[in-house]
Amino acid sequence: MKKIKGIILAGGYGTRLFPLTIGTSKQLLPVYDKPMIYYPLSVLMQAGIRDILIITNGEHMSSFQNLFGDGSSLGLSINYEIQEQPNGIAESFIIGSKFIGNDNVILILGDNIFYGQKLKSYLEKAKNNLNDGLSTVFGVKVKKPENFGVIEYDKFNNISKIYEKPTKPKSDLIVSGLYFYTNDVIKKAKVLKPSKRGEKEITDINNIYLSKKKLKLIILSEQISWIDTGTYGSLINASKYFEKLEDTSGKKSSCIEQIAYEMGYINKSKLKKIVEKMKHSDYGKYLERIIKNDI
Ligand code: G1P
Repeated sequence: MKKIKGIILAGGYGTRLFPLTIGTSKQLLPVYDKPMIYYPLSVLMQAGIRDILIITNGEHMSSFQNLFGDGSSLGLSINYEIQEQPNGIAESFIIGSKFIGNDNVILILGDNIFYGQKLKSYLEKAKNNLNDGLSTVFGVKVKKPENFGVIEYDKFNNISKIYEKPTKPKSDLIVSGLYFYTNDVIKKAKVLKPSKRGEKEITDINNIYLSKKKLKLIILSEQISWIDTGTYGSLINASKYFEKLEDTSGKKSSCIEQIAYEMGYINKSKLKKIVEKMKHSDYGKYLERIIKNDI
C-alpha cells in the first residue's frame, strides 16, 4: 500500500472578491469562525493525511506560515511552495513533485468546503480505489454547471467525458475540487499542454485518466454539503450555514484542533497549548471543553 500525501492549492489572487482579497489571501478569509483553509485541511486530516503541502502565491505564503507553522502543533507536517503564476490547477503536481515523491496524492482546492457525516466513508472509498491503481473525482449536482468541470455520464456512473466550463452543459453534475490521484499524475502534469487560456487544466488530467479507464466517479449524496466560496454571496451564506449548524448541533464543524485530538495526532497536553493561545475566544473555550471531556 502506497503512502498518500496531501496538497492544498491556495494560490491565485482572488480578484473576483476584490477589495476583500487585496490585502489577504482568499483562503484566509473567514467562513464563520475560522479561516477558509481550515475546511479543506480538515478534509485531508479526516482522510488520515498528515504530510501536507500548501501551495500559495509568493505574497501570502508568510501568512499561512504564521497560521500553521510546520504543522507540528496539530501533529502534522506542513510544507509550503509558491505558485508564481496562475498556470493552472494541474501545475500543483509539478510544483509538488519532490514533496509527492513516489507516493499517491490527494489534491484539494483551498476554497472548496465539504462537510457531512458520511464524508469519511467517501474518502475511504477513494483511498481504496488508489490501492487498486485507480484515481477518483467527486461529483456534485449544482444549479449553474457551466461555471465548473461538467461530467457527461451514464446510469452506471461511468463518465464519458468532462468538459471545462462548457457553454452548453451536458448534465448538472460537476467535478468538485477534491481529487485522489495515483503517483503517475506527476508525469501526466509535466507533459500536459496548457489550454487556450494558458492553464494546465485539471479537467485535461481527468480526461487522460478517463481514456485509460483509470478514473472513478463518486457522486456525493445530498447529505454532504459542498460549498463554493467564489462570490460575496456564497461566502456569507457559507458563514451563515456553519453558524446555524454549529448552534444547533453544539459541535464545531471542520475544527482541525478537535480532529487532530480525536484522530490521536496530538495528546491532551498539546491541545492544552493550543487552548492557552486561544483562551480569549469562544473557539478556544470550545476546545477547552473538549479537554474537560465536556463535548
Ligand atoms: C476549478 C476546475 C473545475 C472544478 C472547480 C471546482 O474551477 O477547473 O473543473 O469544477 O475548480 O471548484 P475554478 O475554481 O478554477 O474556476
